[in-house]
Order: sequence, then C-alpha cells, then structure tokens
Amino acid sequence: AEPPRPATLREEPETEVDDGKKKVTVFFGTQTGTAEGFAKDEYAADDEEYEEKMKKESLALFFMATYGDGEPTDNAARFYKWFTEGKKKDNWLENLSFAVFGLGNRQYEHFNKMAKVVDEILAEQGGKRLISVGLGDDDQCIEDDFTAWKELLWPELDLLLRDEDDISSGSTYTAAIPEYRVVFIDPVESSHLDRSWSLANGIVVHDVNHPCRANVAVQKELHTPASDRSCIHLEFEIGGTGLVYDTGDHVGVYCENCVETVEEAEKLLNYSLDTYFSIHSDKEDGTPLSSGTLAPPFPSPCTLRTALTRYADLLSSPKKAALSALAAHASDSGEAERLRFLASPAGKDEYSQWIVASQRSLLEVMAEFPSAKPPLGVFFAAIAPRLQPRYYSISSSPRLKFVATQNAIPMDEKQDCSWAPIYVRQSNFKLPADSTVPIIMIGPGTGLAPFRGFLQERLALKESGAELGPALLFFGCRNRKMDFIYEDELKNFVETGAISELILAFSRERTTKEYVQHKMAEKASDIWDIISKRGYIYVCGDAKGMAKDVHRALHTIVQDKGSLDSSKTESLVKSLQMEGRYLRDVW
Ligand code: 2AM
Repeated sequence: AEPPRPATLREEPETEVDDGKKKVTVFFGTQTGTAEGFAKDEYAADDEEYEEKMKKESLALFFMATYGDGEPTDNAARFYKWFTEGKKKDNWLENLSFAVFGLGNRQYEHFNKMAKVVDEILAEQGGKRLISVGLGDDDQCIEDDFTAWKELLWPELDLLLRDEDDISSGSTYTAAIPEYRVVFIDPVESSHLDRSWSLANGIVVHDVNHPCRANVAVQKELHTPASDRSCIHLEFEIGGTGLVYDTGDHVGVYCENCVETVEEAEKLLNYSLDTYFSIHSDKEDGTPLSSGTLAPPFPSPCTLRTALTRYADLLSSPKKAALSALAAHASDSGEAERLRFLASPAGKDEYSQWIVASQRSLLEVMAEFPSAKPPLGVFFAAIAPRLQPRYYSISSSPRLKFVATQNAIPMDEKQDCSWAPIYVRQSNFKLPADSTVPIIMIGPGTGLAPFRGFLQERLALKESGAELGPALLFFGCRNRKMDFIYEDELKNFVETGAISELILAFSRERTTKEYVQHKMAEKASDIWDIISKRGYIYVCGDAKGMAKDVHRALHTIVQDKGSLDSSKTESLVKSLQMEGRYLRDVW
C-alpha cells in the first residue's frame, strides 16, 4: 500500500543563497528529499537552533508539502511540531518578510494544510506576508501554480531588494537552467571505483538516501485466477542487513529502469553507456555552482549506465522546466521553438493534451526532438528528475517469529526483480501501548496491509501471555471468490482471538454496492461503545473515496449515538485525532 507521494520542487529542506548582498533563506519540506547533506542538518537542528535561525532572517521562502492525512513530510516534521506547538514571544518574527508555497493535491481532504498553517502562524507571529500562500495542486499542473505564484512574488522581492540594495531598475529575472559539473574519467584507470547500492550497506542507518539491498524471499499472487487484477505479496529478506522496522511502518522501494529503457536513453543522449564520470553541485574549489540551488547529485563516479538505471526518472512525463532545458540544447531551431512553445503559457493546452493526458514519457518526448542533445550535467540537473522510491505499508510484524509461506515461490538471484534497494520509513500508525485497549480497524482492499501486521503483533502478544482488548476489523473487496486477500489468515486470526469480529463488505457480489462504511453503520453501537471506552480507530487505504466516506460515517455514528449537535460531533472527532486515537494511513 502506497501513501501518496507529494510533488516536490526541490529536495533541500533548507538552503541559503548568498548573492553577496542580501540573503534569502529557503525552507523546503519535502518527503522525497535526496539531499542527504541538508537533510542531516535538518534532523540535527534542535529547537533553539530553529529559533535562532528564524530570528535572524529578514526574508524567507517556505515550500511545504502536505501528504497523506494532512501531515508534514518527514524532514519538516520536527520543524512543524516546534513551530506550531512551542510557546514563543509575541511578534518575535517582526523582522521577517516571508512567502509560502504549498505542494498538495486538491483530491485530498487536507489540501495544502501544512502551507496554510505555516503561512498563518508566520503572519500571526509578526512576519510580513509578501504574497498570499500559493496552493500548488498536483491534481492539475503544479508547475503552473508555482509559475503563477512566482510571477506575483518577483515584483514584491524586487521592491524589497531594490530598496536596500539599489538594484538598477528594469532588471528582469530569467531562471537559469541548472547544471551539474560533470567530470569525465578514463574508465581504464578507475573502473574499480564504480559505486553501487551495496556500498550503502556499509552504513549502519538506512534512509531515503542510503537504501539497503534486500533480497526477495517470497513472491505470491493474492488474487485468485478468477480475478482480472493482481495483488502481489512480497517478502524481503532483511536478516543481517541492519534494517529494522516496527509494526505499522512503511517500506520505501526503489526500482531500476530496465535495460531497454536505458539503451533508448543512450541513443537519445548520444553518449556511450560506458561513459565514466563524476558529478558535482559545486565548483572545483568547493564553492556552490552559480546556477541556482542544486540538489546534491547521486553517488559518483559511476558509468552512465548506472546513472540512468538507478537515478534518472526516464518514464514520467517531463515538466515544463525540462522542456525549456531541452529547447536550450536543440540544434534545430524549429524543434527548439516548439519545445519553448510547449513550456510557455500559450502552449498550456497543448502541453496538457500532448504530454500529460497522453502520458508521454521523457524519452518519448526526446525521441520527437532528436536534435535536442543536452550535456549530462544539464540532463541530470534539469531534465530527468531523480527516481523516487515508492512507499508501501508493511504488512507484517517483526514480533512474529514464523511467517506462513504456503504456496510461495522461493526466489533465487537469477530471477528478475529478485532484489531491490529498500529502506524503512517510520510511521505513527501504531497499536495502543496497552493491548487491552479496544480497537477498530477499517481497511478495504490493500488497506488491509498494516492490519495484517497489527494482528500478527496481537497474536504474538497473546502468546506471550498478554491480555487483548476487543478488535473489530472491517474489510471490503469486490468478490470473495476473487480478491478476498489473506482470507485464511483472517479466519485464523478470528479463531485465535486476535480479531474479535471480522466484518466483511463485498461490493460486486450483488447489484447494490456494499462498502465498509455501510457495515460501520450497521455496527454503530459497537463502534460508539469502543469510542466511549477510549478505544482507537484505524483507517487504511484509498484517501480520495474510501477514507472520506468512512470519515463521514464515523461522524454520523458519533452524532447519532452520542446525541450531539454537529459542532460537538466535529470537536469530538477532532479530539480523537489530536489524541492519536483516530489514525489514518491513507494514500
Ligand atoms: P468497488 O471497486 O466495487 O467500487 C477495495 O478496493 C474495495 O473498496 C472494493 O470493494 C471497492 O469497491 C471498495 N470501494 C470503492 N470505493 C469505495 C468507497 N468510496 N468507500 C468504501 N469502499 C470503496
């Protein structure tokens, strides 16, 4: 199960740009940050450091992504907690001018919550808001939202900076195309230097930038042959890797581009895959490149084959900024013009038709413009984004000693996809510390994943002598003969007492849809009883439809059973969330 991936503009949580005159500090809150150096600083900073830092700023831009259930991204979590919870002096930010741009998706309930909250508090605490908060919507074209926000910001920045620095009037801002410094290396001399994922295994802590190579121990299809869809159960062998996880955590999985894709890119770029190079975001003397803020590049030296296979997203649709960068390196003026048009406001419709709607990949677009041959430094900095991990809710508990693997196909090294670079991302989706506290789990489809882990954990607890409180599990799927995943295991959990009641909704067995929220309504009294006993409610799965509907069903139950008016209902459900008793792992 994959929580949503927030869009990211840049990777750095925090970057300083110094033009020698006036400093602008940029705070990035992104989930998929590859900026290990910066990320480390961010994690290391303590609350006083944040305060010191922000007090000193006179101008700061904040880029805040919101993900999942209205949560901050990992690297912004601490900052957000400190910023929203800590007591600070009135108007302590009176010297600060700021602007906030949010990265979110309108399909989700808490659209751009992080950006809105940070923007509001900055103003409340005395900061001067330069322009209204930008609400980037990844459901549409977030790049356009960003461009529009930027257009509003420039004149404000111009005024602000001109005042103090007397920038000559009429200055225009054109964004430079970012470019890494690439050093080509003689492969004969240094072929032994090629870095690989396995090197990362020397590092004790595995994180987004240091994934660990893990072998696939088991792979099996969970749907029956009657189903026209697929749902795969994968087990990774993590013994001896140093990877640790807790029930309810997520696993980030990197995939590699396949050989054909990489060879296609080789043709289009016109460099041999054996090209051996190192890549840098700074000059030879160690000072940052002037072309703007560049994320630290991937580990190098390496061959172009390695770089394209592991680090370049070649199959997503190119962003407009990538088209502009391609245009700058197209030798055919007609091609350059058309690329520039596609990236321009005038080409908006064509871009959304020809690229977004038809899901044209970067490589397919490049194939249409064969004269565009960007240098590698530009390609990796401005055209091909970094390949991002995909996130899944882990469906097992580390407390369980034996995992049933009946009918499993053991994988061996020779088979495709027999390993992947992975890392564990911690979540707050956890069972109550006290196992006697009653719980309600709602997880249709692949939303079942973390609950399988929860139930394994409860079983292990029970076997070690702990007492278990009641546990309701609401599961839904289309048809019990097709996609009732883990049916035997669930029945076993009922028999062993890990679940006190399994409540099923099959949506495509009859003419009327039966969903988990309909079953919740039937069980309203039990649910209200559990809430009254300070129980926990967990929801996992689709955020756009299911979690919203389940949220509404919960409201109705609280309102009816508690005989509350709608504002009291609202605040009770809020308090469940604030207390961490209503937890959601949704995507
Ligand atoms: P459907 O595909 O028949 O509409 C797991 O995907 C299950 O969740 C399926 O049975 C699916 O039903 C159901 N589902 C789809 N939309 C839902 C919603 N808004 N609320 C609850 N369940 C939903």
